[in-house]
Formats: sequence, C-alpha cells, structure tokens
Amino acid sequence: MSVGLVTISYIIATILFIKSLGGLSNPESSRQGNYFGIAGMTIAILATVFGPQVSGIGSLLTIVICMAVGGSVGIYAAVKVKMTEMPELVALMHSLVGLAAVLVGYATFIDTNTGFVGAEKTIHEVEIFVGVLIGAVTFSGSLIAFGKLAGKISGKPLLLPARHFLNLALLIGSIVLGKWFLNVEDVQIGLIPLLLMTVLALLFGIHMVMAIGGADMPVVVSMLNSYSGWAAAATGFMLSNDLLIVTGALVGSSGAILSYIMCRAMNRHFLSVIAGGFGTDGGTPAAAGSAEPQGEVQPISAQDTAELLKESHHVIIVPGYGMAVAQAQHTVYEITKFLRDQGIEVRFGIHPVAGRMPGHMNVLLAEAKVPYDIVLEMDEINEDFPETDVVMVIGANDIVNPAAQDDPNSPIAGMPVLEVWKAKTSIVMKRSMASGYAGVDNPLFYKDNNRMLFGDAKKMLDEVLVSLKG
Ligand code: TAP
Repeated sequence: MSVGLVTISYIIATILFIKSLGGLSNPESSRQGNYFGIAGMTIAILATVFGPQVSGIGSLLTIVICMAVGGSVGIYAAVKVKMTEMPELVALMHSLVGLAAVLVGYATFIDTNTGFVGAEKTIHEVEIFVGVLIGAVTFSGSLIAFGKLAGKISGKPLLLPARHFLNLALLIGSIVLGKWFLNVEDVQIGLIPLLLMTVLALLFGIHMVMAIGGADMPVVVSMLNSYSGWAAAATGFMLSNDLLIVTGALVGSSGAILSYIMCRAMNRHFLSVIAGGFGTDGGTPAAAGSAEPQGEVQPISAQDTAELLKESHHVIIVPGYGMAVAQAQHTVYEITKFLRDQGIEVRFGIHPVAGRMPGHMNVLLAEAKVPYDIVLEMDEINEDFPETDVVMVIGANDIVNPAAQDDPNSPIAGMPVLEVWKAKTSIVMKRSMASGYAGVDNPLFYKDNNRMLFGDAKKMLDEVLVSLKG
C-alpha cells in the first residue's frame, strides 16, 4: 500500500473515530457510534499492517501471530466478563495501553537506526522520555484502580505522611533524570536514567491512585481513561504515526472532559481529587464508625410493595450498583411495563456516578429495552420527588444519601444526590444494612416514610412482579 493511500485511510479512520465518539454520547445513537468505531479501527489496522512501515513477510507474519494471540485474549475476555466486572476490565485495558507506551519507548530508544541528528534527535528523545513517563504512570495507576474496583485492594484512601512532598520529590527526581537522559550520547548509559525514571513513574502511579478512594473513584476511572489516551498519543509521536497521535488525543481529551463532568456531578474540584484523601478533612481519615447503622428501620414485604405500587399514580425507580450485581434490569423492565399498562407513570432517575462506571445504569436499562424517554438524569428529575407516590431504590445507596446535604461533617458532604426522601414513600431494596462504596451510613433508611425491602434485588423484584400480576 502506498504512503498516499495510507494517509487517505488514516484520514477516513480519524473521521470515523470522531463520528463514533459523537454517536456514543447518546444512548439512541450509541449502537451506530460503535459501528463507526469498528469500521475506523478496521481501516486503521489494515492500512498500518499493509502500509510501508511493515516490510517483509517475516514482519507481517509476526504481526499476524501477535494479533491472533491478542485478539483471542480480547474476545475471550469480552465474552466472559460479567457486566458488573466491566469497570475492572476497562481499568485493565488502560493498563495495557500504558504498558505498550513504555515498551515502545524502550524499543525506539534502543533502535539506533532512526537517522535522527541534532534537534531532531533531542525531540525524539523527549518524546521517548515523556511517553515512557505517561505510560508507566498509566500502567501502575490502572493496575491499582483495577485492584480497588475488584475489591482486591481496600477502597479506603492511603494517606502517607507528607504525601504531597513525596509526589513533589518524585516529580523533581523525574525532571533531573530527564536532564541526564538528554545529555547522554551512549544508548547503554542512557538506559540508566530511563530505567530509574520508569521506577519513579510506576511509584507515582501507585501512590496517586492509592491516595484516592471512596466516592472519588469515578474520577480516577475517567482520569486513567484520559491518561491512556495521552499514552497512546505519546506512542504515536515515538512511532511517527499520525493516526495514533490523533486517536490518542481524542481519547485523552474526551477522558479529560469526562473527568470534569464527573467532578462537577460530585461537586468536587479536580485538583483536590487528585491530591487524594476522599472522606478526610485535612488529611485525617474519616471518623471510625461512620458506616455503623444509626437507628431503627421499617421492613416491608414484596406483597406490600406491590400493593403500594398498584395504588400509586407516579413512580420513580432509582437504580444503583446492586441492580447490576443482581442483574435485575429485565425484571425492572417487566414491572415498568406492567405498571405503565395500568396507566401508572413510571420514570427512572439516574445519578451520574451510579454503579461503577460512567453510564453503567443507562447501559443496563437499554439492554433490558427500557424506553430512553423515561430514563432521566438527576438534574431533570430531582424536583419531581415531592409529587411522587413511590420511589423504588434498587441496590443504590451513596447516590440517595441525604447526609450529603444535611451533614457538613459527612465524608460525602456536598455531593449532589437524588432526593428520594421527599417522595411520599421510598422503598430501598438491598440485602442488608451494609454501606455503599463510599463506606458511610445512610440516614435515608431510618426516615419515617422509608421502607426496607431486604433481599437480592432480582429475587425481591420477581416476587413483586408475581404479586402485581396476581
Ligand atoms: P453503592 O453506594 O455502592 O451501593 C450499592 C448497594 O447495593 C449496596 O449498599 C449493597 O447493599 C446493594 N447491593 C449489592 N448487591 C445487591 C444485590 N444483589 N441485591 C440488592 N442490593 C444489592 O452504589 P450506588 O448507590 O450506585 O453509588 C455508586 C458508588 O460507587 C458511589 O459511591 C460512586 O462514587 C462509586 N463509584 C462509581 C463509579 C462510577 S464511574 N459510576 C466508579 C467507581 C466508584 P447490600 O450489600 O446490603 O445488599
């Protein structure tokens, strides 16, 4: 394939990627957005593999074998992964982008046949140094995020003494090593500052994500998404591949915008999230016992829940992480359909950080074929709770916690929440009195107009559906 044809293919792929991102911003066009992305990626891969950068049957064979191995692992992971494990898988994928940037950085540095001299050589080495730095931070940070999301590492923020100075020392250390790296002529000696910087960057990634926890994790997920984009862009610079630069920048900037949206949704400043220490005031951990139940609750049965629903005119359903765990979305749809057929208005209230990944609830509800027009954002529905007869909170906890508004000392103080307690009756479905991801107790459970429907969300909703139909 000629250089001209490759360039045209890359431009087409870029346009398809932009259209893909546009499509993914809306549930109705997201399927089409995915198709654009698949088409763009197919063109990009074909143009790269058959382009002038891959020469000889040997290289082609190596690439085909690598693609077969990588593709099989990808297909296996995508087929096997449970919906609830999706955020962990995404974090793991981000770590691979970071690792790729590190490996490409080392490979391009060791390759002395680039022909770069003078300023060009310096620019190339800066690209390598920055690429490896971003890649290593993304790699280790994403692995820690994976551990936290999978519950293998405690979700609590790790607050080392003088942690800000530690970060500053790591940054200064990297700059000093960068200066050394650029002044060295010999490749073997140059590897020393590169390796030392890689170790510092890996430590920085670990420390940065370990210090962030609780309800700030959504921002970490989107931030690492952004970093993985910049790592890919850095790889593009190292390999002089325009498409990789553009694609990386698209992912990097859209991840940054998502981080901003997440911060705004949680009323947090990006810098204070990155500085770490969620749920702490001035660096001291959240008060012990804040997750202990603080009162009496009023349980309700599935039959009584069905009766309450039948008697209502306006119902709002608030899904959370527990709905994903229980895979209850299809029963939720059945109940919604039944109630709507009886002339009862049913709508959904979606919190921006409900579940464990951006858009988690929207994906599940779309999968269960819940109509998009009754699925509303928090800001669109929050004022309607006082006119609502019954709110069903299905496996949600932090996103409906009134302490965020009422208790200035709460670790989640200031985070906007769905004001479900303003409805005539709220029914919370969960298995126990356990706290949510942020690890704080929820005063909603003890309110006079709240009832607790204890049990697995799918099992309880099945019972509610049987009672409704009976
Ligand atoms: P959570 O506050 O985590 O609450 C989920 C509740 O679901 C738990 O209290 C749990 O109580 C219940 N549950 C679990 N399995 C269940 C099952 N099978 N049946 C019924 N209930 C079940 O979830 P949320 O309200 O959706 O809030 C999201 C939280 O995750 C926020 O703190 C957010 O910051 C954080 N987070 C979000 C993201 C993104 S991007 N969305 C990423 C990382 C972290 P029981 O154990 O008693 O059943």
